[in-house]
Amino acid sequence: MLPLLLLSLLCSISTTLNAESTTTINVWPKPTNLTWTPPHQTTLLSPTFTIITITPHQNNHLTAAINRYTNLIKTEHHRPLIPPTTNHSLNLPSLQLLTVTVTDPNAELTHGTDESYTLTVTTPNATLTAVTAFGVIRGLETFSQLAWGNPTRVAVEVRVTDAPLYGHRGIMLDTSRNYYPVKDLLRTIEAMSMNKLNVFHWHITDSHSFPLVVPSEPLLAEKGAYDVNMVYTVDDVKKVVEFGLDRGVRVLPEIDSPGHTGSWALAYPDIVTCANMFWWPAERDWPDRLASEPGTGHLNPLNPKTYQVLKNVIRDVTTMFPEQFYHAGADEVIPGCWKTDPTIQKFLSNGGTLDQVLETFINNTLPYIVSLNRTVVYWEDVLLDDTVHVLPTILPKEHVILQTWNNGHNNTKRIVSNGYRAIVSSSEFYYLDCGHGDFTGNNSAYDNQTGYDANSGGSWCGPFKTWQTIYNYDITYGLTEVEAKLVLGGEVSLWSEQADETVLDSRIWPRTSAMAESLWSGNRDEKGMKRYAEATDRLNEWRSRMVNRGIGAEPIQPLWCIRNPELLAGKPIMPGRTEIPCFGMIRGWVKVLFLGSSFPVLLGYLQSLGFQWGLCIVWGGVLEGRVGAGDANCGYLQLQTQSRFRLRKLICL
Ligand SMILES: *[C@@H]1O[C@H](CO)[C@@H](O)[C@H](O)[C@H]1NC(C)=O
Ligand SMILES: *[C@@H]1O[C@H](CO)[C@@H](O)[C@H](O)[C@H]1NC(C)=O
Ligand SMILES: *[C@@H]1O[C@H](CO)[C@@H](O)[C@H](O)[C@H]1NC(C)=O
Ligand SMILES: *[C@@H]1O[C@H](CO)[C@@H](O)[C@H](O)[C@H]1NC(C)=O
Ligand SMILES: *[C@@H]1O[C@H](CO)[C@@H](O)[C@H](O)[C@H]1NC(C)=O
Ligand SMILES: *[C@@H]1O[C@H](CO)[C@@H](O)[C@H](O)[C@H]1NC(C)=O
Ligand SMILES: *[C@@H]1O[C@H](CO)[C@@H](O)[C@H](O)[C@H]1NC(C)=O
Ligand SMILES: *[C@@H]1O[C@H](CO)[C@@H](O)[C@H](O)[C@H]1NC(C)=O
Repeated sequence: MLPLLLLSLLCSISTTLNAESTTTINVWPKPTNLTWTPPHQTTLLSPTFTIITITPHQNNHLTAAINRYTNLIKTEHHRPLIPPTTNHSLNLPSLQLLTVTVTDPNAELTHGTDESYTLTVTTPNATLTAVTAFGVIRGLETFSQLAWGNPTRVAVEVRVTDAPLYGHRGIMLDTSRNYYPVKDLLRTIEAMSMNKLNVFHWHITDSHSFPLVVPSEPLLAEKGAYDVNMVYTVDDVKKVVEFGLDRGVRVLPEIDSPGHTGSWALAYPDIVTCANMFWWPAERDWPDRLASEPGTGHLNPLNPKTYQVLKNVIRDVTTMFPEQFYHAGADEVIPGCWKTDPTIQKFLSNGGTLDQVLETFINNTLPYIVSLNRTVVYWEDVLLDDTVHVLPTILPKEHVILQTWNNGHNNTKRIVSNGYRAIVSSSEFYYLDCGHGDFTGNNSAYDNQTGYDANSGGSWCGPFKTWQTIYNYDITYGLTEVEAKLVLGGEVSLWSEQADETVLDSRIWPRTSAMAESLWSGNRDEKGMKRYAEATDRLNEWRSRMVNRGIGAEPIQPLWCIRNPELLAGKPIMPGRTEIPCFGMIRGWVKVLFLGSSFPVLLGYLQSLGFQWGLCIVWGGVLEGRVGAGDANCGYLQLQTQSRFRLRKLICL
């Protein structure tokens, strides 16, 4: 290495920091409006601190939440990575009381339930008001994050008014490819509530296993589960649902069909086509495969018995899950699978089409689900798949919501421009399983001595989606205002071919916290600029608090970074002209690269401009800069910026 690492030069960036009263206090997801009035005082939490509700109520979820948060606030004793700069006043009375007022304590948790709240922390008494118990739960979570230390201190003169941008903020978890014990589902829901997420979309069954015990169809789990212990009983479901409601999290069940049903064949071979065959026979082309991955089987829409079994399942599931939405799947109907069945072959040879086969299936199930007072969620394929889909006339908009997962915002646009409500789970942004390679085990692409596999290591949706990718995704990108209103929100998805409880927490957190903030208060600051740089330190702190709360969230940075802000140059470069003095022997225009750019690329670029040496890497984005006057060894780099950047790292060689 050249001996000219001039990191110390960073200290003299000639900009002033915007003094923001909120920067030292960390609530994730960031509330829409939090003010902490100077001089930023804290007080102790009284040993007799209590939370009381003024409103009379009989809401068990509210009582449970109040007990839980009272205990958390008294016992958490969180140690921030960087303690907030505060004035701890010994003269202030300690915090005695949080009084809760809720206007509609009996409101149930459905899509669109009011989650807004107002929190005022003054001493000795603080107040929290909300329309519903679920707004109270969000406010209590915020309150818990205003406390830290041992003995517990609480920030005072804090005012928060807060409400989410989107009503649907969720996680989809697949418990069929690999099984997850109930305690791991509960921990996930607990962490969701910490992040103010409100929908646990439970993709319970698939081709690989059928872990749900359905009372009127017990054979399905008896034969289709991986093991007698790898099941979810009626009591387990009840526990998960109640646990969710206590935390403001709806549990939305998905029974995927007609595709993804190979596991049903273990109990009912006659209702499943192409059950458990080799998924992609060697001599066939991709369009003629039987499934998109090993694990084949589709319910047969032309067999009346299919509906006997399926309707029993649907009826029981709607009984077990009080949730107003029912997810019916309908993704990845693969023609090759249905074509293996003689009845379907006959139907096709008599002039029928695969679209009609699917339409028959939808006609026999959708009205039934609607009759059970459910809004039906389908994956987008049912309308948008290139080869097998149905027409909008079969999918009434008032009863159907479509969940998008392909082609990013393009498909979101197609869904909402057709007038459907959309849930966004674009695989290019929100799939948490991507980037872990191919699981089939016989893939010569990995045996390559002459180059690395640029095709994402065999993962169909690689690369890995970083928290930044997730944070920055604008789920209404390219939509008109009217169309954007049809976007209910989003869900990250964890498909479990390569996940189980051993990696659950780190696969989900803190990347899902990034979505949680984006969907709660957005990914932009007051000026409309993307705030990912400013979010980094906050997410680092939040991840640390989650870990202390027992969630195995993976790290996003070395601890060193938050401890050494001056070496990361943790100062924003303000819009306008910024000068970084003493930049080394560079003359003329340079491009300064921010986080994500590669060192060799920049080096090559500078050399192409005729620089003998001299290099500047700034992590975080791309800026144009001009090197100003100076002596032979030292110049000024003047940066012209349109937006505020946080200067994270500058290396001068
Ligand atoms: C935020 O809340 C404070 C006081 O609680 C209020 O003065 C301010 O106007 C609010 N800001 C916005 C942008 O609503
Ligand atoms: C603490 O209080 C003093 C005096 O009021 C004030 O100058 C200082 O800025 C306060 N510190 C913080 C972190 O607000
Ligand atoms: C705080 O609440 C308690 C109990 O309701 C009440 O007795 C007391 O007067 C309140 N203190 C202030 C300063 O409002
Ligand atoms: C149907 O569902 C809605 C929303 O969940 C609920 O308010 C209503 O009471 C239900 N109707 C019946 C008949 O169950
Ligand atoms: C499905 O239902 C629609 C509306 O009732 C009807 O027009 C259509 O013919 C049905 N399709 C099939 C294949 O049964
Ligand atoms: C969206 O459509 C455009 C235009 O066809 C295409 O260039 C782009 O790659 C698509 N985006 C995704 C994520 O598929
Ligand atoms: C791997 O795939 C190749 C090509 O399809 C096949 O010839 C070979 O038998 C397979 N090996 C194993 C161990 O499955
Ligand atoms: C090995 O990787 C290189 C570079 O990605 C690629 O060009 C080549 O086709 C690969 N070879 C094989 C046998 O896959």
